[in-house]
Amino acid sequence: MEKRNELYAGKAKSVYTTDDENFLVLAFRNDTSAFDGKKIEQLDRKGAVNNQFNAFIMQKLEAAGIPTHFERLLSPSESVVKRLQMFPIECVVRNISAGSICRRLGVEEGKDLNPPTYELFLKNDELGDPMINESVAHSFGWAEPEHMKTMHELTLKVNDVLKALFLEGNLLLVDYKLEFGLFDGKVVLGDEFTPDGCRLWDKDTREKLDKDRFRQGLGDVVEGYEEVGRRLGMTFEY
Ligand code: TMP
Ligand code: ASP
Repeated sequence: MEKRNELYAGKAKSVYTTDDENFLVLAFRNDTSAFDGKKIEQLDRKGAVNNQFNAFIMQKLEAAGIPTHFERLLSPSESVVKRLQMFPIECVVRNISAGSICRRLGVEEGKDLNPPTYELFLKNDELGDPMINESVAHSFGWAEPEHMKTMHELTLKVNDVLKALFLEGNLLLVDYKLEFGLFDGKVVLGDEFTPDGCRLWDKDTREKLDKDRFRQGLGDVVEGYEEVGRRLGMTFEY
């Protein structure tokens, strides 16, 4: 597989075409962004750690029957993925209150949410990723109801698989964001699953080991991600 031209550069990843129109290369950069790109810094090792973290999780999800775009690692910080037609929608599940839901609803951080919440946001930094729902997404043509039904089912299935996986590392999966796309007409998990897009707390101390370390200026951001990986049995190459 030959990596060709840069197709798109996001805030933390760049996407390249390849000699096969059905596949892309995802390059995870050290750029770390928060607050819709208002805070950006370079963090050593983050690209490699997130690429390998994502590969590990995507393979676990695939093994549990969740279709993903992940194909294979290409280098420490790059992976080959299927080329999806992405929906401009972020699917968020919360098992414990934190982040925007606390600000929006005036609730305190750390409340168990049973059943977990399921929210949709429009992927649009300029608008600050506003919350939407399935009716709005349908009316504006962002996704078909049948596809959103599958996204909902898959997002909840991911919760069952990953809550259990992280618990083995004495970690609580507080919340996470997923993005989906279509490949050959089928809904497939795209983008990434890394500590950049989820919240993970130590089960006993509730220490934050995810991107909230960056958002809140707590330091040791990548060290936190590596600690999570180590607890799940990952070894990283740089
Ligand atoms: P929130 O509390 O800011 O709504 O985020 C919920 C979870 O989803 C949190 O783990 C971060 C993740 N997320 C992203 O990674 N990118 C986004 O643009 C949004 C809205 C959420
Ligand atoms: N990843 C998004 C951003 O860069 C949202 C966040 O994680 O805070 O702004």
